Amino acid sequence: MSLEINKRKTEHIDLCLKENVEGVNKTTGLEGISFIHNALPEIDFDEISLETSFLDKTIKAPFLVSSMTGGSELAANINHNLAKAAEDKGWAIGLGSTRALLESDSHKESFLIRKSAQTIPLIANLGAVQLNYGYGAEEVKQIIEKTGADSLVLHLNSLQEVIQDGGDLNFKDLLPKIEKICREVDYPIGVKEVGFGIDGHVAKQLKEAGVSYIDVAGAGGTSWSQVEKLRSQDPLRKEAAEAFNSWGLPTKDCIVSVNKHVEGVPVIASGGMKTGLDAAKAITIGADMVGYARQLLEAATESVEAVKREMEQIELELKIAMFGIGVKSIEELKNTRRVSIMGRSLLDE
Ligand SMILES: Cc1cc2nc3c(=O)[nH]c(=O)nc-3n(C[C@H](O)[C@H](O)[C@H](O)COP(=O)(O)O)c2cc1C
Repeated sequence: MSLEINKRKTEHIDLCLKENVEGVNKTTGLEGISFIHNALPEIDFDEISLETSFLDKTIKAPFLVSSMTGGSELAANINHNLAKAAEDKGWAIGLGSTRALLESDSHKESFLIRKSAQTIPLIANLGAVQLNYGYGAEEVKQIIEKTGADSLVLHLNSLQEVIQDGGDLNFKDLLPKIEKICREVDYPIGVKEVGFGIDGHVAKQLKEAGVSYIDVAGAGGTSWSQVEKLRSQDPLRKEAAEAFNSWGLPTKDCIVSVNKHVEGVPVIASGGMKTGLDAAKAITIGADMVGYARQLLEAATESVEAVKREMEQIELELKIAMFGIGVKSIEELKNTRRVSIMGRSLLDE
């Protein structure tokens, strides 16, 4: 089993680095949002602060390295580079699925990044569907203990599993099981998608189940039906994946919908995030944090310095957007009216 997981993880990384794995004719929807330039910002660029808090920790920027990997030699290098860069830049970081940590003794160190990331929020990760395949509160506690994480996020990935050869397909009765985990584990439990998006109705159910944050992981970036299509050996599944190459709720629509239906639960915008300007738009329409996965992957295979460079680029772009509309804190950005959504200016309303 563990060898199988290891091989799958390595193939995922390779395909995400080398192939076109984006959905077809699919965007995040953030291109429909624009800022209304403020020619008189009345702020000093150097005083702009990106500081915020997440999982009871103050962080230097509202950014998350989204869950990617662990459980192989390649993953160990990637996670090490991501962790050190995230610690230096004050970003939160997620691990890829930590299932292999309990199922195998090899490459355990790839998940043990706390030593390189001592102060930032660290999130462990598990497929929610595993709650139907032998995992429960005890395993979640063990994972959190072994990794020293602040939290664990359960990922919902039905469309990925159904296209993946041999995927786990019993997604029945997960909500009460998620609720049980939230009740029995003394750490914040989050829920994320993997690129098909969480809408407001699902988010409301998850909030009622007790989750501490929701990462929408919407469409417009990496498409896991595309990735699994490239891996699949089954001609039926391969062809079906093609029919679903534009499936998913765009990230912008997820954020708007979740904000409409749910209050008081931090929302992470992710799925197709590439620039700091994307982040500025997502925060303006209701996100508290912004997550980047594939955008950081190539740099993560290179070095800590390469990841930090990507991070600095994203931070600079967010600050430029804030300068352009004259806001100097994330709180002010959340409340700005200098934004036009699908041609509707909030400034003039
Ligand atoms: C190589 C790779 C591996 C991933 N593995 C996981 C995983 O183990 N668990 C998870 O929840 N999401 C995983 N994801 C999904 C991301 O966290 C993210 O939700 C998705 O890729 C969409 O974001 P993006 O468009 O920024 O890539 C992975 C993504 C990549 C690129």
